[in-house]
Amino acid sequence: MIETVATTPYDDQKPGTSGLRKKVPHFQQPHYAQNFIQSLFDVVERPADAALVIGGDGRFFNREVIELAIRMAAANGYGRVIVGQDGILSTPAASNLIRKRQASGGIVLSASHNPGGPDGDFGIKYNISNGGPAPEKITEATYRRTKEITEYKIVCEPAPDLSKIGETRLGDMVVEIVDPVADYAELMQALFDFPAIKAMLAGGFRMRFDAMHAVTGPYAKAIFEGLLGAPAGTVVNGTPLPDFGGGHPDPNAVYAKDLIDHLMAPDGPDFGAASDGDGDRNLIVGRGIVVSPSDSLAVLAANAHLAPGYAKGIAGIARSMPTSQAADRVAQKRGLGIYETPTGWKFFGNLLDAGKVTICGEESAGTGSDHVREKDGVWAVLLWLNILAATGKSVKDILAEHWREFGRNYYQRHDYEEVESKGANSLMDSLRDRLASMSGQRFGTLVVSEADDFSYKDPVDGSISTGQGVRIVFSGGSRIVFRLSGTGTKGATLRVYIERFEGHADLHDLPPAEALKELIETAEAVGEIRKWTGREAPDVIT
Ligand code: G6P
Ligand code: ZN
Repeated sequence: MIETVATTPYDDQKPGTSGLRKKVPHFQQPHYAQNFIQSLFDVVERPADAALVIGGDGRFFNREVIELAIRMAAANGYGRVIVGQDGILSTPAASNLIRKRQASGGIVLSASHNPGGPDGDFGIKYNISNGGPAPEKITEATYRRTKEITEYKIVCEPAPDLSKIGETRLGDMVVEIVDPVADYAELMQALFDFPAIKAMLAGGFRMRFDAMHAVTGPYAKAIFEGLLGAPAGTVVNGTPLPDFGGGHPDPNAVYAKDLIDHLMAPDGPDFGAASDGDGDRNLIVGRGIVVSPSDSLAVLAANAHLAPGYAKGIAGIARSMPTSQAADRVAQKRGLGIYETPTGWKFFGNLLDAGKVTICGEESAGTGSDHVREKDGVWAVLLWLNILAATGKSVKDILAEHWREFGRNYYQRHDYEEVESKGANSLMDSLRDRLASMSGQRFGTLVVSEADDFSYKDPVDGSISTGQGVRIVFSGGSRIVFRLSGTGTKGATLRVYIERFEGHADLHDLPPAEALKELIETAEAVGEIRKWTGREAPDVIT
């Protein structure tokens, strides 16, 4: 039986870079999740009897919202929902299922790398039928709808038991509970040379995968320890927990320090990797070296042809604007298309659909390809393993050779977290006010060659996104980018991205902080970070 429930709008349901994200107690307000889900159902395109994929990263409140979404889908005319067992689906696995099962879309419940638990973060994201995050046209329509909503529809019956694989009915709708790993593992086997990786592991190559108590645990165990035969214990923190064990499931130098420490030990494993809350980010570490995400993108693009799924070569590369220009150098040398998009995976969707690019990546630890329409942590790990198996080289050697061939783009990102919004906005406004007069200005030995507020015109659908971050480029190609995060849930997060190209091979082994010293000082001089944020130093440097 369908019940129509009266509700009143909330005025803060505007999706950010990656869906609607708020603290759990915020989501627990009466009808808060219902309003947003109904608004989605009201605006998204779908045929009658459409299929919808539903899953999440297992964080606190996951199960409740999944059950709600199932009951609301049944009341809103969906013909079938495909749900991961126990409500678990990594973001790339959800993307794969949407595509494979020709669903009209999917609801992914996650706040990605943000902490979970009763006081942690929660999020709802909608993906469209190509498997990728909803474009702004849809997120904006959803937001408009949330401001005028007066009722939502839900069936009175409870959702079925999410732990039992198989099909049941709820009203007129089929509820199909699936193994979250099976289809994804099949896709990975089609892309990569599993026998070669397996032989490398059997030959004594040692790896460590840190699932950070988040969603990739079951995927990593099934793939690395199961299909590839790595010894039990290769996957650590492999059980998804609602609060991620009290940790912060963000695979960076701060939160994945334990993994990095293991890899820095002289007798440590050959290869280490980690993924985030919902399994779309990755961290790659070789013995004695952490690979920056921007370098990882460039290396993967340059070597993808070594994996069977990309043996024919790649069509082109896309990177988000703040990501270093290391990938551009690969594209130039190999005669490939290169696209610079705003931050957010959703901007890659059209380029991938149109066949303009095969590999995409972001400085925020995301890399992926046209196999799904999300970034994919386990995929990146497997492509690295495939490259290592095909070349027989270490991570360190691969990077050194890459820099010798293409030069090195030294890179750092400085994050100032939970800054007062007013100050952060004033910092950006002040930069924007000065953009026109910045060209030609000198800071130490650096001279500004151009400065702008990045805007993007999608080459496929012509849509325009403005105000995507202030870029200050210096003669010689060094860059400083200032941008406010679109994923924070409290105050503002200022990100300052700093990059310098070095062509000389004998200067490729400097610590990044040293190679970037002058630019880091210039960032303070141009941005007046201390003045506007009251902070002496960044909270995190990645
Ligand atoms: C999410 C998106 C990414 C994006 C990242 C950084 O993870 O999926 O595509 O790069 O957020 O966003 P932020 O706005 O916090 O810099
Ligand atoms: Zn994520």
